[in-house]
Amino acid sequence: METAILSTMKIKKVQISNLDKTTLNGRKFGSTFTDHMFICKYKNGKWQKPRIKPYKDLKLAPSARVFHYGQAVFEGMKAYKDTEDQIWLFRPEENQKRINASAKRMAMPVFPKELFFEGLETLLRLEKDWIPTAEGNSLYIRPFMIASGNGIFAAPSEEYTFMIICSPSGKYYSKDVEVVIAERFSRAANGGVGAAKAAGNYGAQFYPTQLAIEQGYDQIIWTDSTHKFLEEAGTMNIFFRINDTLITAPTSERILDGVTRKSIIAIAENEGIKVEERRISIDEIEKAATNGTLKEMFGAGTAAVVTAITHFSHKGIDYKISDVADRYSKRFKKILTDIQQNKSEDIFGWRYKV
Ligand SMILES: Cc1ncc(COP(=O)(O)O)c(C=O)c1O
Repeated sequence: METAILSTMKIKKVQISNLDKTTLNGRKFGSTFTDHMFICKYKNGKWQKPRIKPYKDLKLAPSARVFHYGQAVFEGMKAYKDTEDQIWLFRPEENQKRINASAKRMAMPVFPKELFFEGLETLLRLEKDWIPTAEGNSLYIRPFMIASGNGIFAAPSEEYTFMIICSPSGKYYSKDVEVVIAERFSRAANGGVGAAKAAGNYGAQFYPTQLAIEQGYDQIIWTDSTHKFLEEAGTMNIFFRINDTLITAPTSERILDGVTRKSIIAIAENEGIKVEERRISIDEIEKAATNGTLKEMFGAGTAAVVTAITHFSHKGIDYKISDVADRYSKRFKKILTDIQQNKSEDIFGWRYKV
């Protein structure tokens, strides 16, 4: 059945939903998908009519550029449902702007803001019953764009496909994490695509991360090209608390400008905590860990929310960060998630009602 809705979009619904067969809460992150997906194609220099249709495989030519040249960008967002059944997003304009910034860096067309929100909100209203509500669970949303045009010569595609899929997800990390500081591999280069959410940035991290996992760590903290300054983790920006000052690396062309990162900075400043956005060296952190002034380390990102780091390792030496009574990470996580889930007043104006 096809029904015309809103200005341009058609919806084709599934005949039988998979929801009844799915236990919503506690699902492995990003592994189950809802009934429908949003899709919009770009050809002849313009975006075509968007559609929502049943979630299913795509048909692409073997020569589609995405397979050969990695022209692919994505976003990660979450939807929450409150006790009154209202759906909430968190600062979605930031993701909308960022996917277009990423697209531009990858020589891909920008996706119009109105279409992004029309598609996103229509899809979420349709998938409302798929939003899990248990603590730490949410509907993870993955907008993405791929080069779907054909041709194996190294040049940007002339056709693209923009999509949104949704996944009811449990916690990304079920515990605090231990990290190793990168001393050989790099995630991003000066003048490269580190600040874009380009698919290849993630694929390139898998091998070094596998090695780190084999050594018993959960994640890598990436460093700059000199391997002297700390930058960010695989899917999180990183914060350090030295005494009572919060420190994080400044954003740059190598670092993803995280929505959670900027929200944590605002929350900390509002709590009267001193925040420094500046370069932070491995040396400084090792000294602070040794003399006891390094009180906390944590990662911040949409998927991982706020995740405490209990150990870091560098050049074979392990450093343990001792537990402090009033963990900033715990406080920030509570303030952030209460705003996200409509459990507290939104003094920053970040919540977005669908
Ligand atoms: C490399 C990287 N850094 C940081 C983040 C955190 O960004 P955000 O808070 O916008 O999710 C992410 C996740 O999106 C990421 O992939």
